[in-house]
This record gives sequence, C-alpha cells and structure tokens, in this order.
Amino acid sequence: MTTLNSLNQQFGIAGHLQFIEVDGGLTFAEINNAHATASIAIQGAHIATFQPKGEEPIIWLSKLAKFVPGKSIRGGVPVCWPWFGPHATDSKLPGHGYARTVMWEVQETKALADGSTFIRFGLIENETTKAQWPHASTVQLEATVGKALKVELITKNTGNTAFQLGEALHTYFHISDVGNMTIRGLEGCEYIDKVGETTRRTQQGGIVIESEVDRVYVNTTADCVIEDKGLKRAIRIAKTGSKSAVVWNPWTEKADKMGDFGPQGHRGMVCVESGNAFDNVVTVQAGETHRLVAVYSSEKL
Ligand code: BG6
Repeated sequence: MTTLNSLNQQFGIAGHLQFIEVDGGLTFAEINNAHATASIAIQGAHIATFQPKGEEPIIWLSKLAKFVPGKSIRGGVPVCWPWFGPHATDSKLPGHGYARTVMWEVQETKALADGSTFIRFGLIENETTKAQWPHASTVQLEATVGKALKVELITKNTGNTAFQLGEALHTYFHISDVGNMTIRGLEGCEYIDKVGETTRRTQQGGIVIESEVDRVYVNTTADCVIEDKGLKRAIRIAKTGSKSAVVWNPWTEKADKMGDFGPQGHRGMVCVESGNAFDNVVTVQAGETHRLVAVYSSEKL
C-alpha cells in the first residue's frame, strides 16, 4: 500500500498538486494551479470537483457525497467501464462496470508549460475484476486541469482477441437550477428513452428537463452545450472517440430514494455523459488502443 508520504514525494508538485486523505478513508489528488482547482480520488480515478478560478464550479458534487472504499461518489466524473448500465448477461454484476469503485494507481504527474496540471491513473486489476472482465486489457485515465478540464479514458487490448467495450464519463454538471437550463447539440438525434418502457424517439429542439430524464442519444459526435440562464454561462462538452451522449436527471422521487443527493439536490445538477453505449459499443481489436476524450469548458452567455 502506497503511503501518503511516498505519494507526495513521488508525484506531488509544489504549486500544483498534493495528495491528502479525507474522512471516510479515500485519498485525493488536490490540484490548485494558476487556472483552476480540482480534486480527484485515486479510487475510481474519480474527478470529484473542478472549478476554474473566479468562476462557479463546472462539476457538481453532492453535499451528501460519501468518500468510502468500494462505493461510487455521488457527483463528479464517475468512470463507467467496461460496460455501461446493467451487464449484458449477468444482472448481479455492478451497474456501469467496476472501474468507479476499485483502486487505481497514480502513474505520472506533471506541470505543463501553460500552467495546467496533468495526472495519469491506471486501474489495478484484481481477482474480482478479472472474473468480471476476462479480457487482457489496460485502462488509464488522464486528466489535464487548466482553464478547461480534459479527460481521456484510454483502453488497450493487450490480448489476442477482440472485445466489446461499453463506457462513459458520467459527468455531473453544476447548474443554477434545472428549470433555467437548456441542452443544445442533440437536436434531431435518435435516443433511447429509459424512463418507463424503453422506447426509441427523436429529439425535437433543445433539451429542457421538467421531470425524470434518462436518455441515451446514439450516433452523435456533436459538442453538447448546457446553457444556464441563471449563471449566465454555457458549459461546452467537446468530445472525440464517443458516439453516445447520455442525459440524466433523476428528479425528486428517485433522487430522494438514492439518499445521497440531499433535499432538492437534483435541481442543481444535470448529467451529460460522453461515451459509447447501446448501438455504439466499441469493438477493440487485439493490440488496438481506443481513446475516449472529453473537454469541459465554460463560456459567457
Ligand atoms: C445514468 C443511467 O447514466 O446513471 C441511469 O442512464 C442511472 O439509468 C444513473 O440511474 C445513475 O447511476 P448510478 O449507478 O450512479 O446510481
């Protein structure tokens, strides 16, 4: 087990990054540079916060988020990997895969010339993960924290046969109020509506949310933009290596049942996830590397 001291000695960077342990038992990389602050849990390589200096946070983290071993954090950027949603054949396996609840390791950190901070994590396999995902592979997450946040999820097939991969950066965005926002970029796009009986529909106009929304938009590589009239800003989600976009807000009843949203917590967030799911699961050939990249930035409205 790597101690906090040795992590800080090996990977800490003065004026950029230090490792801390929080109540609950998780270790976080705390980034504070000229452009922004961010905290990233090593468990799950889970980015919990990201806030450009002088601005509201871009990423939403529940006030009731728990930081405990083996549990996913409510908010931030959970990594869904190597499947999205329920497992295709075994409903006992964890929803959205296991990557977000297992330990990762820090592999590299650096201060970049433009003042940004870079960190790379790699998932540590164990007997349980190998039993759930019997494919020779590695997965890494790279985060570059600057004025924008860049996240790359890199999957390498290190074996001799192809495998199919489902994945998403399940990002929770901070908004003034769900009633103040519209999501643009998915107009005319086909989606799988998961509320009630699963149905396929086509998006008409921008997305406004007035009840539970749980949709997987397929075959789209477009940027998504969350326009927030309350904060007078737009959050832009630009991506490569992703053909699906998931839009999710649990609304009152489901959020209450989850227990870690807090009262009316769902009103201050919306998930716009970049990934590959349903029609868009990715076939990674032997020896091939697949990269899913998302960049989150803000613009004045
Ligand atoms: C979304 C799914 O991506 O994640 C929803 O489309 C799901 O169906 C949501 O409820 C949250 O999942 P979890 O496992 O983090 O509670």
